[in-house]
Amino acid sequence: MSANWRRGHPWAAVYDFFVERETLSRPVGRLLFGTDTGLLYDEMHAVEGVPDGGSILDIPCGGGVALRALARDRDVRYVAADIAPAMLARTRQVARERRLDQVETQIADAEDMPFADAEFDLCMSFAGLHCFPHPDLATHEVGRVLKPGGRFVGSVFLVDGSIRYLPMVVLGRVAGVMGPSGGMADLRRWFDEAGFADAQIERSGAIAYFSAVR
Ligand SMILES: C[S@@+](CC[C@H](N)C(=O)[O-])C[C@H]1O[C@@H](n2cnc3c(N)ncnc32)[C@H](O)[C@@H]1O
Repeated sequence: MSANWRRGHPWAAVYDFFVERETLSRPVGRLLFGTDTGLLYDEMHAVEGVPDGGSILDIPCGGGVALRALARDRDVRYVAADIAPAMLARTRQVARERRLDQVETQIADAEDMPFADAEFDLCMSFAGLHCFPHPDLATHEVGRVLKPGGRFVGSVFLVDGSIRYLPMVVLGRVAGVMGPSGGMADLRRWFDEAGFADAQIERSGAIAYFSAVR
């Protein structure tokens, strides 16, 4: 599955097309996942809580949708990481268009990150954990690269919701882009095992929006 993503799966570009268009993504998110995508865009504002001089990791950054919450004059290091070179190229283009000079891009596998322990104050992972073969490993890696007290925010497609979302799970797996994911109890377990506390999880349709502290 990771190899499919690395090669640049067409779904990545389709997803990016919709998520980059907030007004379009709202009805599509409702229709396909029963979710309020407003929660997704709200969560991106977590970057505003990072103090000057701080570091942010956005993995998987995809086409750079979360850059919309980063102000040009913010004195932070913003590392946008993804397994797919094509998505990083797209992120670089968005950063250039928005004149966000603080953005670096880095090829990275979320399950084996090329970052030091305690390197970041904030990690954002939108629509990522369900795309990885081992979401528990990826959560553990996030825990490793975050500073004590650092925040992990993101979203994940859980598989223990309504049967209505089953076709999306099946399609995602047949297309080779969706991993095992898990249910709400699994998500809480991944956080616990990776040393996160104070997990706040809001389920909206098939998607869980979360925030936890290392
Ligand atoms: C559904 S997109 C979400 C991207 C972005 N966060 C967003 O909300 O638009 C999933 C992304 O995960 C990336 N990806 C898949 N497996 C990965 C892995 N093991 N490590 C890092 N990135 C991965 C894909 O290349 C793709 O860009």
